[in-house]
Amino acid sequence: MNKGKISASMMCASLDKIFYYLAEFKKSNLEFLHLDIMDGEFVPNLALGTDYVTSLRRITEIPFDFHFLVNEPLKKLSWFDIRKGDQVTFHYENNSEIDACIDYVKEKGASVLIALNPETDYHVLKPYLNKIDGILVMMVSPGFAGQKMLPFTINKVEQIRDYLEQKNNSNLIIEVDGNITIEKAQLLYQKGANVFVAGSSSLFHNSEVPVSDMIDKMRDVIK
Ligand code: DX5
Ligand code: ZN
Repeated sequence: MNKGKISASMMCASLDKIFYYLAEFKKSNLEFLHLDIMDGEFVPNLALGTDYVTSLRRITEIPFDFHFLVNEPLKKLSWFDIRKGDQVTFHYENNSEIDACIDYVKEKGASVLIALNPETDYHVLKPYLNKIDGILVMMVSPGFAGQKMLPFTINKVEQIRDYLEQKNNSNLIIEVDGNITIEKAQLLYQKGANVFVAGSSSLFHNSEVPVSDMIDKMRDVIK
């Protein structure tokens, strides 16, 4: 099994400690910064806008893992500077231009994933499996950090991994997002997940523990 990757949820990283966090991430060779872009319509919350993302580029070279939680993402993708090496996820739901979104992200040289809300059946992704790099599975209702994982989503990850094998798409990655504790990362890795969004449930859980120690702990269970 390939090693799992970690994507730090920046909506959980308080701004007053941003340079400390980035130094810890760099020290630990963290793979991605997870950027939740929310429009207050697809989800009842707002998060991480264009200016924040532009500023963050100036202070780090760690690739971005964009997660667009917005209605009709196509137009909004172009508001951000998407680069080669980044990963870009938009939702299946409330998106009438999925093919155009896939093409846009690919043109930018980034990897492309489609996200599914907890209650969305993964079979809807069948027409896209040969065009995308992976699937992001929401483990909580999208919109807010600090929620409890919906237990049925754990089986869903396993079912998606089996389904991808059956369809000869076992190269696709599965990213899991929402309440990813160290223990849940271990379990979900065994069930076939590859990228783990680490937010208030892990990296930013306890301010007494250095973030690089938390990254080491997570790495230990996804190798
Ligand atoms: C939603 C977010 C949240 C969150 C992850 O897309 O990515 O799921 O920041 O951190 P937790 O759930 O651990 O607070
Ligand atoms: Zn997210």
